[in-house]
Amino acid sequence: MFTEGRIERVRSIVAEAKLAGKKTALVPTMGALHEGHLSLVRAAKEKADFVVMSIFVNRIQFNDSNDFVNYPKTLENDLNLARENGVDLVFIPDEDEIYHDHKTYVDVEGLTDELCGAHRPGHFRGVFTVVSKLFNIVQPDIAVFGQKDIQQAVSIEKMVSDLNFPIEIIIAPIIRENDGLAKSSRNVRLDEAQRQNAVAIYTALASVKKMIEDGVYDYQKMYHEAEKIILEAGAEKIDYITLADYHSLRRIDRIKHKAVFAVAAYFGGVRLIDNMIIDFDGEKIKCVL
Ligand code: PAJ
Repeated sequence: MFTEGRIERVRSIVAEAKLAGKKTALVPTMGALHEGHLSLVRAAKEKADFVVMSIFVNRIQFNDSNDFVNYPKTLENDLNLARENGVDLVFIPDEDEIYHDHKTYVDVEGLTDELCGAHRPGHFRGVFTVVSKLFNIVQPDIAVFGQKDIQQAVSIEKMVSDLNFPIEIIIAPIIRENDGLAKSSRNVRLDEAQRQNAVAIYTALASVKKMIEDGVYDYQKMYHEAEKIILEAGAEKIDYITLADYHSLRRIDRIKHKAVFAVAAYFGGVRLIDNMIIDFDGEKIKCVL
């Protein structure tokens, strides 16, 4: 397993794997690996013969410099986990290699106007830029992203289609703690009480899921239910509780097609996000959280 930067070296290792007839998958991460990341590796291994993981804390996607500085860094542990979970190649570029005299950025218009995009200026431009670069460096057949960051995953699908990247995008389900809180590298910054209160985000989604399954399709009702649960649990701030069309990621007032119901809220100064996908074909409805 290879664990340093050097773009040419990564290219030649992947080219060799491809020459040997191996299907290649990329799992982009920022490290601080947990079960959520490892589930993406497993999804990649189901579809591909050679799995590359990138670990790069991408400064340009952090709209808050404190968040960048405080981002957990656990490289040694990450490498052990990658090895134990059958990653074939770990790519850890250094910043200079990626951004030396960099002038080119990628944006996906419209899809980032709402949800996290409305609250984190510049964030997605940083994500799409680095993901495009990783795609061009590694040139995988498949890339795996988590539903946890649904706006990121849906926008990257659109970017891949618009820019003709010959890459299949897989969106893997959200991995949760036993009590329902979505696993996140930022959860370690919560103290015990905050950690327990933060479960309210999941409780709110589960409660809205039940409402939808009972026939409530109106956003306002979902919003009030989720807001009540999250505020009662002591969230300091709610960035958004939004119902959006799945493909355009535009707000909607009522479920008519495939949609997403997503939340971002602060507990203990930590911004947490979660969501559920609402599959709706006009008759049957199914919420996946
Ligand atoms: P990071 O936050 O490290 O997440 C890497 C991948 O793991 C993303 O696709 C994310 O959606 C997925 N993931 C995180 N928590 C998860 C969970 N609980 N269940 C399932 N999947 C989960 O997302 C990024 O890094 C960056 O923006 C990146 C794409 C690497 C670009 O810098």
